[in-house]
Amino acid sequence: MTESLQNVYKDRCLHVLPPFLEAQGYFSSQPYKPEKRSEAFTMSSIIVQPINASDLGLGALVQNIDPAHMSEEDFTVLRNALYTHNVICVKSQGKLTPKDQAELTRRFDPAALSYGHGKTIDAKRSVLHPDLKTIPHQPEVQVIGNGFLPEYEGLKNITLRHPHHRTFHKTVIPDAQDLDYTRFYRWHIDAALYGELNPPLVTSLLAVKVPGGRRQTVLYDDGTDDVLDVPLGTTAFVSGYKMFDNLTLKQKDFALTSKVEYAPHPYVWISTTKSRPDGLGMVSEGKEVRINELPPIENENDIQILPMVWKNPVTGRFALQIHPSVVRKIHLEDGTVIDDLAKVREIVHDMQRPAIAPKYVYAHDWEEGDLVLFNNHGVLHTVVGAFAENEVRVFRQCNLAASSPPLGPIASSS
Ligand SMILES: [Fe+2]
Repeated sequence: MTESLQNVYKDRCLHVLPPFLEAQGYFSSQPYKPEKRSEAFTMSSIIVQPINASDLGLGALVQNIDPAHMSEEDFTVLRNALYTHNVICVKSQGKLTPKDQAELTRRFDPAALSYGHGKTIDAKRSVLHPDLKTIPHQPEVQVIGNGFLPEYEGLKNITLRHPHHRTFHKTVIPDAQDLDYTRFYRWHIDAALYGELNPPLVTSLLAVKVPGGRRQTVLYDDGTDDVLDVPLGTTAFVSGYKMFDNLTLKQKDFALTSKVEYAPHPYVWISTTKSRPDGLGMVSEGKEVRINELPPIENENDIQILPMVWKNPVTGRFALQIHPSVVRKIHLEDGTVIDDLAKVREIVHDMQRPAIAPKYVYAHDWEEGDLVLFNNHGVLHTVVGAFAENEVRVFRQCNLAASSPPLGPIASSS
């Protein structure tokens, strides 16, 4: 490890929290009202209530806020809450318009341009294609969910399909148990990971219609007995910061100094492969779409090579942020490239799996009107669960390709 990186590592890993955040009680389980302790909190009446145990670092309710009409002071508090708790929820936002949602999402990155995935290339083969419907008058906002909708925001007679693990996993839960037991569908970062589209900073999710009542049990089915009881149709989150903190010292050195290369047209590339049962990456069977059978690679620079570790812009903490399904190669500090795909996947899975253990997962219990914002540079997330055909679920999702690439650990040393 280089000397400058050692200093960054020492500085950021041992003293990860700015004193003002600790002073504000961000890590207690008690609600708090930010006080006039710094410029950032002046005049704000926002209340931030952590949802989970403080060491999870995931989840807070934000109250006394109107996300469509926020002062700069309020927005600063909201942004600090987001980057501290990584997943935040504002209740009762059913009246938020798609335009409001897009503008709120853009406030985190005013120079951001298009929807985070841009225009899907080769939609017929991409694994992303079936899951999204674009709102015609607000193309940064997508509708996702389950069931038939005669009309919604200019979309007519649409059928939404909640992604089901049987379409994506190598092994499946038998049909007879399908309503009781389920899987994590696909742990991921919201990102195109190709071309000029940088991973979005923030994703917003609005629960428009939520079928309620049932609970399901997530089976990891990965040789462990791990299971997790979750609400129907939860979105599950894990912390990239916890993922980094859980690494051995050797793995941390490796992660801080290595980069990952993603496949060209990554979501087409994996369209002929199947996932591990824990949703954390693909099974290696040599079934990926061959590079010469992908859509053309117009520019070699379109292939994204990103740091493994991304820095939180508020707390300075490091998150292990790797999209496990579409990673293809690992670039080491000395210039060596690991291009044995099975080996790459094993290395990444070994680093990520401890942090999706049941005790580290936050499974959001959706209620209609919930507006959830998450730090897409600091968490992995996945849809979960299987709906019956008559269970209608409608969500709106928005993210924007970031105006700059993720902050890596080496860049932060300058
Ligand atoms: Fe997502």
